[in-house]
Amino acid sequence: MEVYRRLDPERMPRHVAIIMDGNGRWAGKRGLKRFFGHKNGAEAVQFIVETSSRIGLPWLTLYAFSLENNLKRPRAEVNFLMMLLRSYLTNNVQRMNDNNVRIRYVGRTTDLPKEVCERMQWAEESTAKNTGTTLTLALNYGGRSEIVDAVRRVAADVAAGKVRPEDITEADIDRNLYTSYMADPDLLIRTSGEMRISNFLLWQIAYTEIMVTDRLWPDYRGVHLLEAIEEYQRRERRFGGLNTGTESDDVKSLPDRELVL
Ligand code: FPP
Repeated sequence: MEVYRRLDPERMPRHVAIIMDGNGRWAGKRGLKRFFGHKNGAEAVQFIVETSSRIGLPWLTLYAFSLENNLKRPRAEVNFLMMLLRSYLTNNVQRMNDNNVRIRYVGRTTDLPKEVCERMQWAEESTAKNTGTTLTLALNYGGRSEIVDAVRRVAADVAAGKVRPEDITEADIDRNLYTSYMADPDLLIRTSGEMRISNFLLWQIAYTEIMVTDRLWPDYRGVHLLEAIEEYQRRERRFGGLNTGTESDDVKSLPDRELVL
């Protein structure tokens, strides 16, 4: 792919997270039921997973099902998404193994239906030895509830006398998040145009580059991921520091009139 050749191998992101949005609109535009949008969305997932594996991306995290989706969508749609997830896992574990992809999950996954949990566990175990891309599906996930769960664990350590409240650090919260095994995302992509975070990885995206595309998720392909990475490489990440090429102002060297606001 032409765009792949333009990428700088020295500045590849380590972790890309995606809010997959627009399945319903994709179906609506074609006069189809929402279910078809989700089905085509699941096919897009596999394209993106395989592109990620080909470019050696260590972590890909996909927002597949939020706590809010679970609570607020009609039962029939939730059941369909659960069925789709099971069949996605059943049909794609072989391809994950062929592509050296490992699958893991974040979220309150134990609250999902038993047969879904069993399939998830099977897929996780079947791919556990793979050393390429780790695909993390966020399922029954909410960023605030993840922080609540982490705080509960830290509080338990306080109650057990293992740590004093004044000694709690960001690293203590970090290692108690569901995502403790990966680096924070370098790039967050949201499809279908909405400028929202929707309770996704709230803690982890503190310094993440955010990109929103109007493309609907079922139309998203590897080339679009590569284009997003190209745009990411054009951006300068500052992590709260200064632009390169600007100098820090030394207040003492400024004439007084410059300090009058
Ligand atoms: C948003 O579309 C997407 C979701 C609710 C979840 C994403 C689910 C998939 C991509 C399919 C299943 C995934 C796997 C891993 C098998 P929407 O319904 O909110 O779209 P709309 O905003 O256009 O209505």
